[in-house]
Amino acid sequence: MTQPKKIGILTAGGDCPGLNAAIRGIGKTAIVEYGMEVIGFNAGFTGLIEKDYILLKEPNLSGILTLGGTILGTSREKPYRYSKKNGYNEKPEQIKSNYHELGLDALVCIGGNGTMDTASKLSQEGLNIVGIPKTIDNDVWGTDVTFGFDSALQIATEAIDRLHTTANSHHRVMIIEVMGHHAGWIALYAGLAGGGDIILIPEIKYDIRSICQCIEDRYKNNKPYSIIVAAEGINHPEDESAGRYIAGAIQLYTGKETRETVLGYVQRGGSPSPMDRILATRYGSYAAQCVAEGNFGKMVAIKNNELITFPLSEVKNKTRNVDKNLPMILKAKEMGISFGDGPFKKK
Ligand code: F6P
Repeated sequence: MTQPKKIGILTAGGDCPGLNAAIRGIGKTAIVEYGMEVIGFNAGFTGLIEKDYILLKEPNLSGILTLGGTILGTSREKPYRYSKKNGYNEKPEQIKSNYHELGLDALVCIGGNGTMDTASKLSQEGLNIVGIPKTIDNDVWGTDVTFGFDSALQIATEAIDRLHTTANSHHRVMIIEVMGHHAGWIALYAGLAGGGDIILIPEIKYDIRSICQCIEDRYKNNKPYSIIVAAEGINHPEDESAGRYIAGAIQLYTGKETRETVLGYVQRGGSPSPMDRILATRYGSYAAQCVAEGNFGKMVAIKNNELITFPLSEVKNKTRNVDKNLPMILKAKEMGISFGDGPFKKK
């Protein structure tokens, strides 16, 4: 094929720190190195469906590296979702005709699992697509790491650090619920980095009796407070948050004063960490190179710190979960950290 001349970029799904660094990485490389014209669609796939876009010139891409969120905006629009109300879904057709009407040679989709699924479908329909994995949850299949995760980890760890002092002052059990969707990466890493006594992740089935025994044993062992880091995706009733549910059960069964903190959207906000800035920049710049080389239908990824491409068709419908036998988990257990799944060993 001839060298692509005009490309589109969109950011879809939940936002995360590093999106602007990725937009900048793609845009600057595409313009400076390959002389392409770059447009950015507003609000994810909605912008592509409604032909709502902005021209991204090189000066527009300066000063955004450190900015949180996304200058393009995002949405949870899933164009292939079947709508009972509207029956036949014409959005994929709209996307295809807009792509051609705008004279696009390629589209770079930055997003998580849902976005890679849509990107794969568009690619199968003949559009030239490159995907870039992002999410604080770190659960995209085919890559070792997504940008957004490191920043969220930093925020969650700082929150846990702050809980230690107030927990100690009041001799309380403190539960912090962190995000992660159905994966336990943020809870695992922040739990270890923040010195959590009990770490609960969706991938390891907990027993509330084991959690309570761990807390009781800690008190007997002159540990007057406990910190529990729980992933939002652990098993819990639908009508209350995971953190609230675990806190209620602990208070009921141990009688210990218990409080919960649901960290929420602060994990997704603000400036990206240096590691996320670098990762997003590498992904962005490499995605532009993939476009220039006609390497389509792929997601850029990292394996052992090397940039690679991974077929979008193999990413879709999968999530990358924590392996419960990860060496870091086994080591943590040897130190007496509980994952709520077995007898507690004294620290
Ligand atoms: O995927 C990122 C994430 O922040 C998850 O951790 C969380 O479960 C979800 O998005 C929240 O989604 P929304 O932005 O739709 O509330």
